Amino acid sequence: MGSPRHAGPDAERLDRLIAHGLGWTRSAAQKAVRRSRVTIDDVWVRDPAAKVPPAARVKVEDVVVPRLDRTVLMMNKQAGSVSANVDASERTVIEDLPDHLRRDDLRIVGRLDKDTTGLLLLTNDGDLLHRLTHPRHGAEKVYILTFEGTLAVDAEARFEAGLTLDDGTICAPAKIAFTGPNQAEVRVHEGKYHQVKRMIAACGGRVTRLERTQMGPLALGADLPRGATRRLTDAEIAALDQAVSAS
Ligand code: URA
Repeated sequence: MGSPRHAGPDAERLDRLIAHGLGWTRSAAQKAVRRSRVTIDDVWVRDPAAKVPPAARVKVEDVVVPRLDRTVLMMNKQAGSVSANVDASERTVIEDLPDHLRRDDLRIVGRLDKDTTGLLLLTNDGDLLHRLTHPRHGAEKVYILTFEGTLAVDAEARFEAGLTLDDGTICAPAKIAFTGPNQAEVRVHEGKYHQVKRMIAACGGRVTRLERTQMGPLALGADLPRGATRRLTDAEIAALDQAVSAS
């Protein structure tokens, strides 16, 4: 047994690397580390948050954990495409990907409705997907919208208290800020079906245009045209990891 290499800025968290490489949940990976089943370069490690340098070899007992390439894409979704991998009759967001970014193992992180535009993430990292979409981790999503009708005068207070939707579903506390005539910005920490449209309906309005502009630490910049997709930078992935690991 030697000593582990020095972890540089490209080092990856041990529990995350195991979860992604073996398709485990992050908690299963953490359990394996705490039970002394894991080595980094043949050195036993008991800290799930230990940093693994890019060239280091991680083993769970005798099994070498594959270092899978990790892809996280940001799309500026256009209206008219459905958030599905395949669909018999509709154009999908996967079909909107340029050929060089298309791959079979991509999954969509938190769907947007067909007529909703804006920030959509796609990844092959199941653990990251789970953390970003699970309400417990509460990644904030920001939407801008246009609505018709007149919203209840106490809409802000009702959003903050937790709105009750048409079917009795109770939403977690959220925020609405009015940004212009019939325009608003909504901040939520969960992703229920048609959530923003139903929250606005619960206050007496109807959404006519909806765009997601932010998810956790990621903002849709002006540099990504509608319909286009790009890879996240390493710094953006690290910020995402940190946002969902901290919770
Ligand atoms: N809320 C909605 O109502 N629709 C979306 O696409 C996203 C959030």
